Amino acid sequence: MDVRHQILSLTALSSLNADALLLVVAGDSLDTKLDPKLAAPIDDAIAQGDFVLKASRTLYLHRQPGVRAGRVVLAAASGTSPKAFKSAVASGLAALKHTGAKHVGVAAAGIELDASHAEALVAAALDATYVYRHTKPSAPPAAALATVTLVTDKVHAKMAQLGITRGLAIGAGVTLAREWANRPANHCTPTLLAEQAKKLAKSHQDVKVEVLDRKAIEKVGMGSFLAVSQGSEEAPRFIVLRYQGAAKTKAPIVLVGKGVTFDTGGISIKPAAEMDEMKFDMGGAASVLGTFLAVAELKPKVNLVGLIPACENMPDGRSLKPGDVVTSLSGQTIEVLNTDAEGRLLLCDALTYAERFKPAAVVDIATLTGACVIALGNHRSGLFTADETLASELQDAGQAGLDPCWRMPLDEEYDEGLKSNFADMANVGPRAGGAITAAMFLRRFTAKYRWAHLDIAGTAWKSGAAKGGTGRPVPLLTHFVLSQAS
Ligand code: BES
Ligand code: MN
Ligand code: ZN
Repeated sequence: MDVRHQILSLTALSSLNADALLLVVAGDSLDTKLDPKLAAPIDDAIAQGDFVLKASRTLYLHRQPGVRAGRVVLAAASGTSPKAFKSAVASGLAALKHTGAKHVGVAAAGIELDASHAEALVAAALDATYVYRHTKPSAPPAAALATVTLVTDKVHAKMAQLGITRGLAIGAGVTLAREWANRPANHCTPTLLAEQAKKLAKSHQDVKVEVLDRKAIEKVGMGSFLAVSQGSEEAPRFIVLRYQGAAKTKAPIVLVGKGVTFDTGGISIKPAAEMDEMKFDMGGAASVLGTFLAVAELKPKVNLVGLIPACENMPDGRSLKPGDVVTSLSGQTIEVLNTDAEGRLLLCDALTYAERFKPAAVVDIATLTGACVIALGNHRSGLFTADETLASELQDAGQAGLDPCWRMPLDEEYDEGLKSNFADMANVGPRAGGAITAAMFLRRFTAKYRWAHLDIAGTAWKSGAAKGGTGRPVPLLTHFVLSQAS
C-alpha cells in the first residue's frame, strides 16, 4: 500500500487527481467551506435526507460534473477523534470496495487532521485490503485500492507525514502478526515461527535472533516449558530477538509472547467445538514479531528484547498429566492440575529467563484465559500490573494506537487459590476470577523487575464469519516501545 499526503485546500477538492474522493464529514452539519462543485450536491443530499450526518452513514456519488475524481463517497464521523475518523474511513472504503477505485484521496471536513488521524487512516486502509492467501492462493483481492492520498493543509502536512510513516510501520507489524496467527498449526509450527524471526533479522540489521532447540532449552533448565512440549512430535523452540537502537548500557524493554502453535488442552483436552481456533494461541508470539518489525522500521532509540517460548500442547503417551509436578527455571515447583492451563507454564520460564537482560520493564502478551474474554469481551485486552507508571504508559499506548486495554486487579488475596499440597504452587485456581489467578501465577516469577501482563484472549482474533487474526496488540506495544525512546 502506498500512502502519501498532498497539500490541497478543501475549496479546491474538485481538482484532486484520484479515482475516488472519500470525504469524511464530522459534526451535525456541513459548515466547512468546501469546493462549490462538491458542496452543492452534498448540501442537496443532506436537504433531501439522502445523507444523514450520523456515524457509519455513507453516500456514493458517481461522476459529479466538474469533479476530477469519478467517484465521490461521503462518510459521516461521530466526532473529530482519530477513532471516529478511522471508523468513518473504514465505512467509506467499504462503500468503494466493489468499485475499480485504485487511488483514493481522503479529505476531512470539520476535523483538524494530525498525526494520529493519519496513522488511523493507514490502519483502516491496510485493514480494508488484507487478504489471507497462504493456504488459499485463490482468494480474490479485497479491493482494488493500492494508493491513498491524505489531503491536508500546509500547517498539518508535516504531522500527516509523520503519522503516515508510523502507520505504515505499525501496519506492517499488524499484518505480519495477523498473517502468522491465521496460518493453521501445520503451517505455523514452532520451527516456522523461528524461521520467520530469522527472516526478520536478515532484513533488518538492528535485529538479531537466537533460537534455542530442545537440547538448548533443557540445558537452560526450562522444565516447565519443556513439560508442555513433551507430548508433541513437533520440536519446541525458544526464540530470542534483540533490537539495539540505543547504547548497549541502556536497560532493554523485554516483550514475552506466548507461542502455543496449537492448544488441544493436552490430557485435560478441550471440547471439539471451535478447537480449530486454538491455532491462534500463538497470538502473543505473533504480536512480538509484529512489534519487532514495526520497531525495526521506525528505529527508535531503545533497546528491545523479544522472548518467544513456542510449542504445541498435545495429548500423547508422553504428555504431561494432571497431578504431575514440574520444576520451573526459577526453581519453584508447580503442580499441574490442569494441562490446559499451559500458557503460564511456558511463560513462567520465559519470565525467569528475562532476568538475565536486567530489563527496564518486562511485558508479557498471551492468549491466556477464556475468563478474560468473559470479563472484557473482544474490545479491550486485559492489563495486569502493580506498577502505576507502567500501567499508565501501557494504557496511554493503547489509547494512542486505538488498541485499548483495561486494567485488572492483582490483590494478594487472589493468590490463595494457587496453593498446592505437593508443590510450591498449583497451575490453576478456582474458576471464578480465572484471568486474575493466571496473572497471579505469572507474578510469582517477576519479583526482579517491573512487569506487566496483557491477556489478549479476547482481542487477538475474531470468531464467526470474519474469523481471523486482528494483529492486536501490535499498535499498543509499538506505541509503548516508542514512548520509552530516549
Ligand atoms: N489458550 C487458552 C485460553 C483461551 C481460551 C483463549 C479460549 C481464547 C479462548 C488457554 O491455554 C486455556 O486453555 N486456558 C484455560 C485455563 C483454565 C484451564 C484454568 C481456560 O481459560 O479455560
Ligand atoms: Mn490451554
Ligand atoms: Zn493456551
